[in-house]
Amino acid sequence: MRIGFFDSGIGGLTVLAESLRRLPAKDYLYMADTLHVPYGTKPKEDVRDYILETVGKMNEAGMDALVVACNTATSIAIQELRDMYSFPIIGMEPAVKPAVEMNRATGRRVLVFATPLTLQQPKYYALLSRVDEEGIVDSLPLPELVGYCERLQFDEAFMKAYFLTKLAGYDLDSYGILVLGCTHYPYYTDILRELLPPHIQIVNGNAGTVKRLAAQLNRFGIGEGGGSGDIRFLCSGDDPAYVDKMKTALAFIQESHMKQGTY
Ligand code: DGL
Repeated sequence: MRIGFFDSGIGGLTVLAESLRRLPAKDYLYMADTLHVPYGTKPKEDVRDYILETVGKMNEAGMDALVVACNTATSIAIQELRDMYSFPIIGMEPAVKPAVEMNRATGRRVLVFATPLTLQQPKYYALLSRVDEEGIVDSLPLPELVGYCERLQFDEAFMKAYFLTKLAGYDLDSYGILVLGCTHYPYYTDILRELLPPHIQIVNGNAGTVKRLAAQLNRFGIGEGGGSGDIRFLCSGDDPAYVDKMKTALAFIQESHMKQGTY
């Protein structure tokens, strides 16, 4: 029983970390499309082809369920993937719905960080029109951030300067929640936490996604056991150095969880 996790790069590891915590008695296959990362600044048609090709390779390697641990890939190809494969497929979307609900009592606004491609998709507009009746959600694309993350750019001064530039036009007092709508962004939770006023909560969709994964596995009758937390790492570039990088990144995010209590 092996659960596949797919992302363009190391972002999906933030979701895998949550799954390892919640579902330790499973085996995992993690695949990064390193030949084509980042997705979020590329044309939709190209990204669609990359996704189908990469998931095809994962299918050949063997898996019993798939988590598309990438908001961008979910918004481009989730339906097509579900039409192609019969195993359960769990997608991700920016956690706007829980954020709007959690934020209601504060009377403050919600800010969403995501890739340009995610924010341009009909799926995102549909999500907003479903859950943002009062028009309190603002969306900010961060085209550079996945690239920084892939290059392991975690220098505090550099990253704080980057976020401050991006947030320059925003009155932070008026926001109650920041939604990290890309699975790469939780690597920056610690830095953002230090940067933002304490009244702003930082949320992501990882726990919700793993909850839906667990529910789907139960529905398919494969919820219990089936593995021992073994992880097989693959990448489209077939690069052993990148596999090492994935292992380091997973350890980093697991350690950050110890500090923050959240991925
Ligand atoms: N990690 C992906 C997401 O959740 C995006 C990464 C990319 O732009 O390649 O949206």
